[in-house]
Amino acid sequence: MNKTTTAIILILSLFFSCTTAKNTTQPSIVINPYQYSGQKKIVAENGAVVSAHPLASKVGVEILKMGGNAIDAAIATQLALAVVYPNAGNLGGGGFTVARLSNGELISIDYREKAPGLSTRDMYVDADGTARTDKSQDGHLASGVPGSVAGIFAALQYAKLTFSKLIQPAIDLAEKGFVITQREANSLNGLQAELKKFNTVMPVFVKDQWKGGDTLIQSDLSNTLKRIRDKGAAGFYQGETARLIVEEMKKGAGIISYEDLKNYKALPRIPHSFNYKDYKIVGMPMPSSGGLLLHQMMKMIEGRNIAAMGFHSVQAVQLMTEVERRAYADRAEYMGDADFYKVPVAKLGSDAYLKERMLSYNPEKATPSTDIKPGIITGQESEETTHFSVIDKEGNAVSITTTLNNSYGSKTVVGGAGFFLNDEMDDFSIKPGVPNMFGAVGGEANAIAAGKRMLSSMAPTIVLKDNKPFIVIGTPGGTTIPTQVFQTLVNMLEFNMSTEDAVYKPRFHHQWLPDELRIEKNFPQPVQDAMQKMGYTIKERGSFGRTEVIKILPNGKFEAVADNRGDDSAEGF
Ligand code: DON
Repeated sequence: MNKTTTAIILILSLFFSCTTAKNTTQPSIVINPYQYSGQKKIVAENGAVVSAHPLASKVGVEILKMGGNAIDAAIATQLALAVVYPNAGNLGGGGFTVARLSNGELISIDYREKAPGLSTRDMYVDADGTARTDKSQDGHLASGVPGSVAGIFAALQYAKLTFSKLIQPAIDLAEKGFVITQREANSLNGLQAELKKFNTVMPVFVKDQWKGGDTLIQSDLSNTLKRIRDKGAAGFYQGETARLIVEEMKKGAGIISYEDLKNYKALPRIPHSFNYKDYKIVGMPMPSSGGLLLHQMMKMIEGRNIAAMGFHSVQAVQLMTEVERRAYADRAEYMGDADFYKVPVAKLGSDAYLKERMLSYNPEKATPSTDIKPGIITGQESEETTHFSVIDKEGNAVSITTTLNNSYGSKTVVGGAGFFLNDEMDDFSIKPGVPNMFGAVGGEANAIAAGKRMLSSMAPTIVLKDNKPFIVIGTPGGTTIPTQVFQTLVNMLEFNMSTEDAVYKPRFHHQWLPDELRIEKNFPQPVQDAMQKMGYTIKERGSFGRTEVIKILPNGKFEAVADNRGDDSAEGF
């Protein structure tokens, strides 16, 4: 490092301390965005944050040190992720928050994107019937009305510190920049052609060659964040930022209007909760399938003594695969935005229904997906969503998953505003039976309609034991999200694995259609061989998600574990 760089680092470190220190007598935020490292596990007494990026986790912990609670820390972390993790952290996307407050209240906030007012059911189907996934996955028309900023303000009522304190670290990181890792450099290098294709104003991310150690400064984004700091949600949904979004839409034949933005509301939802043995599991309700799918899968194994079968035994993997298949068949048929479609949630989660669903289960062989229609109610993937878990010693626990959909969303950056827009419209069923980018199919329940929220798989989850937080968990990974949370929880609750093993060991995934068992690299070969003999088609693919877990230990300390599949980092004090 040369002298000039060292001098700049010193000055800017000081800047980070001073800008935040002036608001408080508590310890100041001291984060050096030019030299930092992450850690995969910590055990802490006062609070912990585990997220996809070391700087974002550090911001959250510094907010806790300033006297903020887990909600304050979560807001600051979410805003920091929008700067330091542009492929998934976002202002232009949406997500879900599940929280257990210190008074025991369970809440969830839905800030999922909405189909713009001009959306129509067949907007991605050509006259000849061709489904245009290219348009639902990239560029201006792929974006739903963003929800993240509204979600942050909906959570603010539970926070203790002023919003300006919570957003300042993000502003600093955008304005002064931060050093990117080699992994981030590779990711940005791989994005260049698409950036040029889907942007009219070239964003700061365009560069001949990014290298690990380069500093990323995002001035337009910092100005957007300042408008949000000064005007609240209106700093995004109205005025200059909204105007820039609408102008961007016009340049690329997008349809989000000023009215769509002004009318966007984050919604409080009643969390989807269920009991599993001695635990209460609290997850996200519709428009996410995450909570209900987890419920169905956990309940379908509950009575079967899976612990005795053993981790990664053929028996356990086969049982969990069949459970996953059955739950995902229901997802395709019945799940969608419950404000638009009557989702039979109670029936799909009932013990009687789930028992009946397992009548066709054969522990000796695969049940073909063609035999598993969605239950009769008589009645290439990327990992670029992001999850973070936060806890404090007051008893608040926060589980947040937020996304642009795939990496860098629609690849369109709002000109002059500096943030990527989502490509969440692809999570709708754009035509019955046509798979979305995660291979998920759907029909009426998840058809496009103006103002409707597209079905999600995100599953921010909190497990309570004796009504107190026990595990805070979630992950990115598209349709693999619920199966990953399912497997990690089974690893922890049934196989009594260490948290690291529960998170790091190879995972598998079945989603009914396509009828294949996807596995991560290093999935045990003997299990693969045995499953193949039972009739399973096995496909190896890249890593599944990035699961971030906090577990409360018997001595009350917080064990935070960050997934080793990325730069994820656990911080605490
Ligand atoms: O809401 C959903 O289910 C998806 N849009 C999540 C996308 C995702 O996790 C991408 N990363 N793998």
